[in-house]
Formats: sequence, structure tokens, C-alpha cells
Amino acid sequence: MKINESEFEGRVVMVTGAAGGIGQAMAEAFAARGATVILTDRSDAVQATAENLGSRHRAYVMDVCDEAGIIETVRSAESALGRIDVLINNAGIGVLAPAESLSAEIWDRHMDVNLKGAFLVARAVAPGMLERGYGRIVNIASQAAVIGIEGHVAYCASKAGLLGMTKCMALEWAPRGVTVNAISPTVVETDLALVGWAGEKGERARAAIPTRRFAQPWEIAAAACFLSGEGAAMVNGENMLVDGGYTVI
Ligand SMILES: NC(=O)c1ccc[n+]([C@@H]2O[C@H](COP(=O)([O-])OP(=O)(O)OC[C@H]3O[C@@H](n4cnc5c(N)ncnc54)[C@H](O)[C@@H]3O)[C@@H](O)[C@H]2O)c1
Repeated sequence: MKINESEFEGRVVMVTGAAGGIGQAMAEAFAARGATVILTDRSDAVQATAENLGSRHRAYVMDVCDEAGIIETVRSAESALGRIDVLINNAGIGVLAPAESLSAEIWDRHMDVNLKGAFLVARAVAPGMLERGYGRIVNIASQAAVIGIEGHVAYCASKAGLLGMTKCMALEWAPRGVTVNAISPTVVETDLALVGWAGEKGERARAAIPTRRFAQPWEIAAAACFLSGEGAAMVNGENMLVDGGYTVI
């Protein structure tokens, strides 16, 4: 895919959950388009991911459930780089179990990471964006936000909540220059997803998607770049499904 290497020149982009998987692909995509990227993750593997991207990028170990740590990270990143223009709320977890046996603790964990975590990071980053009158926030939801998937009760609920949060923030912040959107991918071929969707289960799932395949991490990153770019200034409160058409049938 041909990209514009200066599209995000001068922009500072923060990505949560950037140590690997889709978050790493997001960081690589924005870096390749000229942005300076702040990679954050609860895992210190994020340091190596950032080093591989190049010296202008920064890494912070940050747990999206730790409000004080988030505020400290945002303050430190803003004072080092001047501002944060784009936030990609990507950190997330998914633990599968039948609804009747999923523990309350696992339920709470999904809400804490996938929903409240995104809220806390957006709330920490937004004041600077609102003050400067410019910002882009992209929340990574899932096709599970708009359909039921067996074994995904807490995951579906947390991602559906993320869409509600996206719409409210979009209403409140767009008048002051900050758009807020979501992306809802189908299964994305990260190392972890490939383990869960291996063999015949994966073949059946691919066959049910009109494009007959899962998504690649770079395709989710490309959608995030679109929503964060100048061409998407009128896209606000949207949930962009990147699911090969799975949810239209
Ligand atoms: N892979 C898929 O098939 C798929 C499909 C739809 C949506 N998604 C969503 O995309 C996002 C990324 O998924 P992925 O497949 O790359 O997963 P992944 O497990 O490979 O990466 C998630 C990252 O988030 C980090 N993380 C988890 N909890 C955290 C916390 N409390 N604080 C900070 N970081 C934390 C992890 O350390 C990890 O690096 C998630 O929100 C996921 O729900 C993934």
C-alpha cells in the first residue's frame, strides 16, 4: 500500500496497548506517515517495540486501570513533546467463558480495562486537545460491540459500552475541535488471535466472512490513520466496521 510519508509530520500520536499486536501495527503505521509516536503498555516489552521504531518515538509503561499513572504519563509526554494530537485507545483484554460461568471478577476486569481504561486515558488527554482546539480520538472496539458472539459476554458488553462512550465524547468535544470515533474489527490475525482461531474453527469463521478472510493488523491501523487524518474531519461519533462485511449478514 502506498502511503504519504509526511501525512502526520509534526503530529504526536499516543497508542495504548502498543507493545505488540494491533497496537504495534498502529504505532508503525503512524510512524511511517511521519508522526512521533508515544507507545504505552502495561508490559515493559513496549520499550523494545519503541526502540525498533526509531529514536524519535517514546515508550511509557502505563496501565490503563491506574488513573494516577495515566495522568503522570500524559503530563510527562506532553512536557517532553509539547502536546498529544491523536489518541488511539487500543489496550484491551478478552477472556472467553459461557455467560453462566463467567466470574464477576472477570466481568469487572473487562469493564476496567476495555471501557473504564479508555475513559480514563481519553479524559486525561482531552483537556490539552480541547485547549488547543484540535484532537483525534479513536477507540478500538470490535465486531463484538454490535453482535452477540458465544462465550464473549463480558467482552461484548464492554465493547458495546465503548461505542456509547464514543458517541457522548463525540457530541461534547467536536464543537471544540476534537473528533471521537471507534473502529470495530473482525478477527485480526495477531499471534494471539491465530492461536484462538486455529484449525477448523478458524476455517469456519473465515468462511462466514464475505471477504473469506480475517483482517490484518495493518488494515486496522490504516483505518485509524484515516480517522485521525485531515480527510476525516467531518467523521465524528462513527463506528467504522472493518469486518469484511461479517455483520451485514
Ligand atoms: N485481535 C483481534 O482479533 C481483535 C478483534 C477485534 C478487536 N480487537 C481489539 O483490538 C485491541 C488490540 O487487540 P490485540 O489483538 O492486538 O491484543 P493483544 O493482546 O495482542 O494486545 C493488547 C495489548 O494491550 C495491553 N494491555 C492489556 N491490558 C492492559 C492494561 N490494563 N493497560 C495497558 N495495556 C494493557 C497488552 O499488554 C497488549 O500489549 C483490543 O482492544 C482488542 O479488544 C482485537
